[in-house]
Amino acid sequence: MSSWVITGVSRGLGFEFIRQLSENPANTIFGLVRDKAAVESKVTAEIGRKNIHIIQADTTDSLALERAAQYVSEKTNGALDYVIANAALQSKTALVSFDTLSRDPKGLEQDVIDHFRVNTIGAIHLFNTFMPLILKGQAKKVIAISTGMSDPEMTLKADIYQATSYAMSKAALNMAVAKFSALYREKGVLCMAICPGAVDTGSLNIKTEEEGQLAVAMFEKFKQYSPTFEGPTKPEDSAKSVLALINRATVSGGYAGVFLSHMESKPYL
Ligand SMILES: NC(=O)c1ccc[n+]([C@@H]2O[C@H](COP(=O)([O-])OP(=O)(O)OC[C@H]3O[C@@H](n4cnc5c(N)ncnc54)[C@H](OP(=O)(O)O)[C@@H]3O)[C@@H](O)[C@H]2O)c1
Repeated sequence: MSSWVITGVSRGLGFEFIRQLSENPANTIFGLVRDKAAVESKVTAEIGRKNIHIIQADTTDSLALERAAQYVSEKTNGALDYVIANAALQSKTALVSFDTLSRDPKGLEQDVIDHFRVNTIGAIHLFNTFMPLILKGQAKKVIAISTGMSDPEMTLKADIYQATSYAMSKAALNMAVAKFSALYREKGVLCMAICPGAVDTGSLNIKTEEEGQLAVAMFEKFKQYSPTFEGPTKPEDSAKSVLALINRATVSGGYAGVFLSHMESKPYL
């Protein structure tokens, strides 16, 4: 029997993680969300399994995370096997670059802060809050869902000027994972960051023609970075691949603190 805490399970990859993990009745999954009632209805309608618990917690709210850990602890006798920081802010500013953002310096500053608050600090609070439970768990795995966009090599190979705040916040997340590993590796905790590839989750919510053109420009950059890239994969396939890597990765196998593609090789796309 394994217990899992996953953030951002309302949609996209997070929803797919809970769908796949709940197929095994021996798993107990705790999904952290910002709208508990809405996600519970969706889970009931689309998954309908009793081993999923939905908990209200914005990951930028450390008190809400404490309450979530208390709830989990009561259900699991104080232990937890896996925690996955999946929730993220992927805003439409990802479509543009520093020159566009610099037209509004205050807006640029806020954009950077917003991305760091959710994508970096939220994950740090999550890991700190659940670490006492992880230390009492069997699997002891702490996972951050990151992105190849955080790797300077990918940025430089195709001059990917887009996704500034997002990429920086995820690069900082990768370093936070390395720091958590430095602190907890000797206690047997595997901390690692994983890029799930490009996944068709509609996260950028493209609506206007201009946004569509900017999205095509980013897609062309991805193609330039990886000429075999044909477009995003389905959430089912990405989630399956990420979960397989989480399953096989161990501290002794050399995975402690690293940032890797779900395929364990580059290119990320
Ligand atoms: N999709 C891709 O191509 C891709 C590529 C590389 C990496 N990733 C990474 O993979 C992960 C999942 O991506 P996705 O495309 O599935 O994302 P998504 O569809 O945009 O969903 C994001 C999730 O994060 C939640 N969230 C955002 N801010 C939150 C907060 N402050 N507190 C709690 N939850 C919050 C959202 O909840 P609400 O419903 O309440 O907004 C939603 O459940 C992310 O870490 C992303 O950076 C995705």
